[in-house]
Amino acid sequence: MAPWTRRRFFLTTLAGSLGIGTKKIFAADAPNGNGLSSLAQATAATAKGTRPLIISSSNGLNALDLGMGLLKRGHDTLDAVVAVVNVVEDDPRDNSVGYGGLPNEDGDVELDASVMHGPTRRAGAVASLRYIKNPSKVARLVMEQTDHVLLVGPGALRFAEMQGFERMNLLTNESRLAWLRWKASTTPNWAPGLDSPDWKDKVASLIDPNLPEPEKARLLAWVDDVVTHPPTGTINCLAVNEKGDISGTTTTSGLAWKIAGRVGDSPIIGAGLYVDNDVGAAGSTGRGEENIKVSGAHTIVETMRKGKSPTDACLEALSRVARNYNNDKTRLSKFYLVFYALNKDGVHGGASLWSAARGGRPRTYAVHDGSQARLVECASLLQGPSSD
Ligand code: GLY
Repeated sequence: MAPWTRRRFFLTTLAGSLGIGTKKIFAADAPNGNGLSSLAQATAATAKGTRPLIISSSNGLNALDLGMGLLKRGHDTLDAVVAVVNVVEDDPRDNSVGYGGLPNEDGDVELDASVMHGPTRRAGAVASLRYIKNPSKVARLVMEQTDHVLLVGPGALRFAEMQGFERMNLLTNESRLAWLRWKASTTPNWAPGLDSPDWKDKVASLIDPNLPEPEKARLLAWVDDVVTHPPTGTINCLAVNEKGDISGTTTTSGLAWKIAGRVGDSPIIGAGLYVDNDVGAAGSTGRGEENIKVSGAHTIVETMRKGKSPTDACLEALSRVARNYNNDKTRLSKFYLVFYALNKDGVHGGASLWSAARGGRPRTYAVHDGSQARLVECASLLQGPSSD
């Protein structure tokens, strides 16, 4: 390990160990009745653990109330996590998951998802599933209704239809516009010819002329952003109930503009998701190729089994990703990867390869420990923003 890396790893690991006490929690920090600020109270709860507990990637924040409500009413942990991610899968504004997800290079939306149920130690997953907006529900049925763990492509679609799911067009207008722009940026034949009055900007000409100007500008800016920085967003959600039973799910539309059939980490048991009811659970968002190579979620659960905190276990998995690039920060800056984990005691953690997203926004994850859903800053292996 190069000297800077060893020092950085030591510092970040130390920060991770201490970080449970130093993480910024995005909630009001006013002193309350017992003299503790809400930050101090949340920190204390985080350090000793709270049950029930549900956590997710930051895009699940607004759905965690739903999941916590189910846990409090005694529903299974798998019901809770699947209900949370279904909200995001159904939301056309999240272009990394379910309906409205960005498509592959052919313009087809292909979804991946997995579930794991701790109490029965079972798993189910689907990959490259088209036309069905809730792949997490289909993954659950693979687990419950078949003797298999992973169904892919046309077989997964046929299975979903036999289970009563209806086909729908998953490509929203916005995602279609972004795909057309990407297509034109890679293939001159897909851009208007020189003799066209629109030759400078085909996508602008496709936008509804009746849209208000600010909406047109927002749409064009978003399209340009996702064309130049293909997202790998995803949602991961993990829960432990009052008894200590654990479940998790991860669901995604995968890398935008991928080759048809590309499968990321989300449906790979041990990479995008792993649950061991004796220990805890882990999951991920970000560049799946890097996670698959270190079996990230399994690595995290095994590291927690040896006694590490969820945060330190996430940092350990990230250090293996960095090692795969000989800690070359130039290459590592080209992608992002975030791990999330909780243990059986209800202690949670999250760690990001880089401390900030492109543009400088800190990487966060969402937590609900029974009081309120909030965003918590991730620990990080490397300081600064990734460039993608
Ligand atoms: N983490 C989602 C993907 O790489 O597909």
